[in-house]
Amino acid sequence: MRSTRLQTGVVAGVAALGLTLAGCGSDSGGSGGDGGSGGGDASEVEVFTWWAAGSEKAGLDALVAVFDEQHPDTEFINGAVAGGAGSAAKDLLQQRLQTNDPPDTFQAHAGAELQDYIDAAQIEDVSSQFEEFGLTDAVPQDLIDLLTTEDGAIYSIPSNIHRSNVVWANPQVLQDAGLDPEATYSSIDEWIPALQAVQDSGATALSVGQAWTQVNLLETVLMSDLGADGYIGLWDGSTDWSSPEVTAALEDFDTLMGFTNTDRDGLDWPDATQQVIDGQAGFNVMGDWAEAAFEEQDQVAGEDYTYFPVPGTADQFGFLADSFTLPVGAPHPGGAEAWLETVASPEGQAAFNQAKGSIPARSDVDLSDFSEYQQSAAEDFASATIVPSLAHGAAAPVATLNDITDAVSKFTSGSSDVATLQQEMGAAVNG
Ligand code: GAL
Repeated sequence: MRSTRLQTGVVAGVAALGLTLAGCGSDSGGSGGDGGSGGGDASEVEVFTWWAAGSEKAGLDALVAVFDEQHPDTEFINGAVAGGAGSAAKDLLQQRLQTNDPPDTFQAHAGAELQDYIDAAQIEDVSSQFEEFGLTDAVPQDLIDLLTTEDGAIYSIPSNIHRSNVVWANPQVLQDAGLDPEATYSSIDEWIPALQAVQDSGATALSVGQAWTQVNLLETVLMSDLGADGYIGLWDGSTDWSSPEVTAALEDFDTLMGFTNTDRDGLDWPDATQQVIDGQAGFNVMGDWAEAAFEEQDQVAGEDYTYFPVPGTADQFGFLADSFTLPVGAPHPGGAEAWLETVASPEGQAAFNQAKGSIPARSDVDLSDFSEYQQSAAEDFASATIVPSLAHGAAAPVATLNDITDAVSKFTSGSSDVATLQQEMGAAVNG
């Protein structure tokens, strides 16, 4: 990625992330049991995700192909529920868990979101499988720290690492607006004249979709304006939500929303990113699952599209990781174990991540066949400060994210102002 390498190192950011995990509750859940280790019905496995279509489904399919090879006697049942970032899946999952109708395994983000399921005693401890599958030596210690609860247990098997703070751009649209398509911008303030130029040229300056994608955009503005420490402080209590710095960041968010497409609330992320691919929009801020959409449509990096960290965030890696769980009472625990084993395997991680736009959670996977973007993301992951994504479960529990999403939605639909948004976001976090 065209990002400046930072000296900051990973440790401080990860320590802060660990804090968000540890800070979410002292009760480890104590669901007990050995996670079904050693058996259970392996005839099938229902895998619950939100990777239902397009490049996300292609990623899942690549993983399933490895699964079918490794576990030919276990039938894969696709329990995917459409809606980016789990916008529909998570509610449905909650209903199923509460009525004791769990899938055999489900997708959950590392960090605060996972802690929710642990606190509710809805998922099993999979520490022994983590070890058995060889992850203890293969997953970087900083990610292991993130997955480990205060009492030393691990409750999910990580499949990948995504970055949330990326701008995707159409060089032709930028050139048509009189901009240098190679230009980078060091702050939101510096980016605004470029957005204005694209808008003046008649294209959409910044494409966005429904509420969760607006929250994804907002988190990157907070990262940019507050810096890594200030942003991390929003989640560990050291940054005051009512400070003028937060007000200024929300004003910047307001300004950016003024450059977006008016049909945004009816669009999910693939539609918003597609506007850049199709040349209707100059820029789109989206996590790097978007890379998979560009690749899937044979777009060539540096020619058909460019990418760079959201202005002002080159030194930050907006971190999120998907992982898979073993729910308490899973009907086919043997099938779930088989799935987790494939997720953990080098072959599974290579096939899945190459198609998904992410980087493997294992650090021993050969990346030479991965895209230019993915190779740069792996380098950035090793050098930038890791900061937790809000929109994707790393920074805050699901209930907090839901409240923030409602507040953002009210704001961007014109029913509230910056002061109300600021107050409601602070209340969502501080209770
Ligand atoms: C994230 C998830 C990614 C990707 C994205 C868009 O929450 O971690 O894997 O699927 O949502 O749906």
